[in-house]
Amino acid sequence: MKKINVQMFIFAIALVLTLSLSAQAQSGADTFKSKCAACHGADGTGSAVGKKMGAHDFTSAEVQKMSDAELTEVITNGKNKMPKYGDKLKPEEVKGLVAHIRTLKK
Ligand code: HEC
Repeated sequence: MKKINVQMFIFAIALVLTLSLSAQAQSGADTFKSKCAACHGADGTGSAVGKKMGAHDFTSAEVQKMSDAELTEVITNGKNKMPKYGDKLKPEEVKGLVAHIRTLKK
């Protein structure tokens, strides 16, 4: 009986973690569509305009090998033609965007 309770507890924790992570990626997906897709494309591979400015394909190993900290840094402070969003988005929203970018991995 006791063993079952422990398993149920672990299951419940895992469920909550999974749900909150996917909720974060979902809100990231919405923000991405409204604020980033113009340059990065809805699927993250980059729009014609974005590619001309130098945006990289988010589904590629090149971008996916960047750490969460590096992605956060570019989104928050910008880089070359990439606008900075540190003053427009809350840190949680940037975190959601990073989570969304991770879901784009091929
Ligand atoms: C006006 C066009 C534009 C918009 C809008 C834009 N970006 Fe970018 N982004 C760029 C360009 C151009 C780069 C490439 C910067 C470089 O390395 O020179 C870039 C780079 C990045 C990178 C680093 C990987 C890479 O491609 O080099 C991330 C991560 C990123 N953008 C995320 C976002 C997110 C998230 C948003 C929305 C909040 C966003 N961008 C909105 C143009 C844009």
